[in-house]
Amino acid sequence: MPKNSKERVLISGNWKMNQNHFEALKLIQELATLLHSVNAISVLPESTKVSIHPPFTSLRTVQTAVESDHVPVFLGAQTCHYLDKGAYTGEVSAEMLAKLGVQYVIAGHSERRQYCYETDDIVRKKVDAILKHGMYPILCVGETLEERQSGQAKQKVKDQLDQIFFSRNESEARNIVIAYEPIWAIGTGETASSADAELMCGYIRGEIASLFDDNLAEEILIQYGGSVNEGNAVELLHQDNINGLLVGGASLDAKKFVDICCADASV
Ligand code: PGA
Repeated sequence: MPKNSKERVLISGNWKMNQNHFEALKLIQELATLLHSVNAISVLPESTKVSIHPPFTSLRTVQTAVESDHVPVFLGAQTCHYLDKGAYTGEVSAEMLAKLGVQYVIAGHSERRQYCYETDDIVRKKVDAILKHGMYPILCVGETLEERQSGQAKQKVKDQLDQIFFSRNESEARNIVIAYEPIWAIGTGETASSADAELMCGYIRGEIASLFDDNLAEEILIQYGGSVNEGNAVELLHQDNINGLLVGGASLDAKKFVDICCADASV
């Protein structure tokens, strides 16, 4: 990978609890067709990487399709357990995901923090497990509307970052992708303005610089997420500190998602 993070872009499609394995197969095939045609006309920039995060039940189906059709996407997961194995009914470990060829795993998505009571401590253990098994964590951070309105947004994000990056070695830190996702913008149709998103992503980069150094902060990938669509992707990617997008709803529509993936070409 090139050194400067601005030369690299990661667009991630988080399918959440959507797409049974039949639907997942159809969607990945549609994506394959579109991405192949896009590649053929060289619109998808070479520096843009794409990851797809289906539910666990569709991972194997998507993995097989990606491999057999040479779809230019990396396999991703939405979460994992932090232990390798054991009596944890219903859980899936990072080790199991790595064996399936998963490369990116979302950690600490606000929906999991809210509905599954995941604390920063749990998220840190998940990040450790994902790194241990050679995958890239996509660490989600972000504030609620209340926190933003009361001027607490930066402090909230700083606290979340500190919990994950504190006393972590540099080689691990540089493999963590950070997704800034203001909670009030997720699934609401309300996007942070590109200026607000840039401000917070710049703040995040500054925090990483103060925890490590400028070089590492330059290298780290920072995504924005929250109601990204094919209309706002270009402007968001135009910002200096935004290296990618974490896309929920719009990633369920192959055409919209591929348009978002190609947005960096127009930057
Ligand atoms: P959204 O979801 O694009 O539907 O707002 C983003 C996310 O939760 O990652």
